[in-house]
Amino acid sequence: MRIEDLNTKYMGKELEYHETINSTNIRAKEWAKQGAKEGSLVIAEYQSAGKGRLGRTWLSPKGEGIWMSLILKPFLEISKIPQITLVAGLCMSQAIQKVTGLKTEIKWPNDIVVNNKKIAGILTELSASTNSINSVVVGIGVNVNNQVLDTSIPYATSLALEGNKVYEREEIIKEFLNLFEVNYEQYIKEKSIVFLLADYKERCVNLNKEVIILNNQQEYIGYVQNINDEGSLEVRKLDNTIETIFTGEVSVRGLYGYV
Ligand code: BTN
Repeated sequence: MRIEDLNTKYMGKELEYHETINSTNIRAKEWAKQGAKEGSLVIAEYQSAGKGRLGRTWLSPKGEGIWMSLILKPFLEISKIPQITLVAGLCMSQAIQKVTGLKTEIKWPNDIVVNNKKIAGILTELSASTNSINSVVVGIGVNVNNQVLDTSIPYATSLALEGNKVYEREEIIKEFLNLFEVNYEQYIKEKSIVFLLADYKERCVNLNKEVIILNNQQEYIGYVQNINDEGSLEVRKLDNTIETIFTGEVSVRGLYGYV
């Protein structure tokens, strides 16, 4: 990627590029510890041990997708970190739509969806000591030009398969970094996601839908009635009680499939 083409002040300006790596998140955490600046970015063509949420693996074939991790060093309470992932998810959704023209949606908390199938995911990892944050690594995987997909995820797809076209990965990365820098700065200033919640809700596929929640071995059906100002999901259960779900180790599925 040509850094001089970036319009950002610092997002992605320090860039580490790898042909092959185990996981860009692992490398980014290491780099952060070694003193990487905020906005430093690790990109790889291939990940041999790409990590997904909930302990899953993330298939990262060579040259076909965007496998990257952004290092942030925010002054925030630890409980607010999941909100950064929502900001990143919205920006990536917008960036993909702008570059490809495909309509993108978000499955809460941060899967990006095209035609009801997953094209991108985010894994945010925090390194903190007692109560202060050392760094936050936002790892983003986007299936861009993949022709063959992980068969263990039947609902996965790629931009190329949905758009019948090969896309420039760089264009998407650049658009994302531009959008993310502006939105991240506003988020850090306001310490609130309220300014982007309307956009997020508009794209959210689970809002006003019945879902199945899988949380710590517990599984129940509910109706998503709101995403609150903290970015949590408000789910009305069948007994009419309301459960507020914070982003974390939770999986949300549609009643009849992925969304
Ligand atoms: C998910 O939806 O489960 C999250 C997937 C996150 C994958 C990306 S690819 C780049 C970065 N490095 C990793 O090992 N994982 C993230």
